[in-house]
Amino acid sequence: MKRWLSMIVVVGLILYSSGFVFAQASKPPPKTPELLNLGKKVYEQSCASCHGPAGDGKTPLGSALKPPPRDFNIPFNQWPHAKGDIKKVFDVTTRGIPNTAMVKWDQLSERERWALTYYVVGFSTPTPPPKKKK
Ligand code: HEC
Repeated sequence: MKRWLSMIVVVGLILYSSGFVFAQASKPPPKTPELLNLGKKVYEQSCASCHGPAGDGKTPLGSALKPPPRDFNIPFNQWPHAKGDIKKVFDVTTRGIPNTAMVKWDQLSERERWALTYYVVGFSTPTPPPKKKK
């Protein structure tokens, strides 16, 4: 009985600490000019061919894709996947979007993926006050 209890405590601790480490690892780093510069560099190397240097997705490659790359210049809360959540931009970059040309980029370092996250979100326009558009 006591053994069981201590087992549960130990397993609980392991789960807790691994979760903790994971949560720490994916915590957004501070948005510094260095990080944004890194984001720009990696973006231009890896993402601009589809998403375009200005993030509007209007590239020859992008327009040949179905679905096409999204326009990053729209308000951040209207992004189809991220919906205004910076963590989701990181996740999409890490995992990709199934059945689209958006592949996963988990070969990039975590720092690079956060740099990209800040950089692409930087293309979006500020979220407008709630009023009917369209
Ligand atoms: C081969 C073309 C291609 C490349 C290269 C590419 N993407 Fe994408 N990306 C796409 C497509 C297509 C979509 C839209 C998929 C959809 O609509 O479901 C997309 C969607 C996204 C989204 C989702 C935005 C949202 O919330 O709707 C993010 C973020 C993104 N890409 C980031 C990146 C980053 C960062 C890179 C570079 C590391 C990159 N992409 C490289 C094709 C590409």
